[in-house]
Amino acid sequence: MTTLPQPPDILSPEFAADPYPAYRILREHYPLFHDKGTDSYLLSRYEDVARAFREPVFTTDNYEWQLEPAHGGRTLPQMSGREHAVRRSLVAPAFRGRELREKFLPVIERNARELIDAFRGDADADLVGQFATRFPINVIVDMLGLDRADHDRFHGWYASVVGFLSNLAQDPETAAAGRRAGEELAAYLRPILAERRAAPGDDLLSGLCTTEVEGTRMNDQDITSFVSLLLAAGGETTDKALAALFRNLLAHPDQFAAVRADRSLIPAAFAETLRYTPPVQMIMRQPAAEVTLSGGTVPAGATVTCLIGSANRDERRYARPAAFDIFRTDLTTATAFSAAADHVAFALGRHFCVGALLARTEIEVGANQLLDAFPAMGFAEDAAPADEGVFTRGPARLRVRLGPGEGAARTAGAAGTA
Ligand code: HEM
Repeated sequence: MTTLPQPPDILSPEFAADPYPAYRILREHYPLFHDKGTDSYLLSRYEDVARAFREPVFTTDNYEWQLEPAHGGRTLPQMSGREHAVRRSLVAPAFRGRELREKFLPVIERNARELIDAFRGDADADLVGQFATRFPINVIVDMLGLDRADHDRFHGWYASVVGFLSNLAQDPETAAAGRRAGEELAAYLRPILAERRAAPGDDLLSGLCTTEVEGTRMNDQDITSFVSLLLAAGGETTDKALAALFRNLLAHPDQFAAVRADRSLIPAAFAETLRYTPPVQMIMRQPAAEVTLSGGTVPAGATVTCLIGSANRDERRYARPAAFDIFRTDLTTATAFSAAADHVAFALGRHFCVGALLARTEIEVGANQLLDAFPAMGFAEDAAPADEGVFTRGPARLRVRLGPGEGAARTAGAAGTA
């Protein structure tokens, strides 16, 4: 006779160390489980998580307490219906297509190069501390046309805002620091907004001040909240994705060699990293009415926690879900960065990540430049670093041996010794 395993505690140290065995237990035995610690219903199967992202009955009203205090106002994830559609089309063009390619690609390339230049020639580096945590924030600050000398201040605000959002245990000091950071950021931005309104430039902040959709423009409060959202939504996530991509590849030397030799594999490697080790592990929703899912019925008004990290490893959806395989045929790279994705790392439906293509561009540029600069890169420590974090998750550091640089590797290759 088999006994039912204990339901996992998602606030426990064991879960933080490695949530994947717990996710498996949830999918198998508790596909709908009320978690006391977070007072929410955990959804762990792909089918249920995808429904929660797609079906409008699952509102995002939970962001009123989960996001609004840190951003000092309502932001896109919290909105629905026409308000959401109009606000989203005010900001979306900057993150895709021509604007992304022509205006922001050079900004992304320059920021990657500058960060790499700081450790080019060193024997080793921490790819998280020296590259991944800095790169996306520096890019956003430059896209907005803000003072590059303030990169460090933005970094501090970003860390506090992200602390607020990840505060599953509701620690009061972390919450207060997050609110304070939001206020400081807004105070910093207000005089700059007045300048941009008077004399708009070519930057994203000026665009946010002047763009109008169906008679709607963003006021100062809308913009300061949106910038705060961008720092959190675009920083933490891309940071963890880049670090996880390199950790996953370095831990699978054959796949690393394949990507190094054929850079067109980078998007597939990134898509598989998003499936295998998604930077955002969970997202909440609040059903407006009672809903029946594969494991039971959720009452109206309850909070549901969509376990992205679990859905992306659902054996009902993927073959060998616990294997990192950039060549897998059940994940489509062509749609992986659109709302038609067949993983849930960017959510799905109307709130699908507005920055997915920006993230893809940042990862492609960052990975290409790192591979060019350090073709002989390898782990500097014996074991591959594990991921950390429960709400968002990724390697806290990634010490790599940089090996001989670009020039040296080419010479060695030419001499037939590579
Ligand atoms: C690998 C990197 C990224 C991951 C894994 C990621 C993940 C997500 C997820 C899961 C959501 C859905 C939230 C929800 O439905 O409640 C989301 C939404 C969003 N993301 Fe991303 N994101 C990434 C990069 C970015 C970047 C680079 C930006 C912009 C700078 C960005 C901006 C946003 C915004 C503004 C939303 C809200 C969209 C809406 O509610 O309509 N993200 N992201």
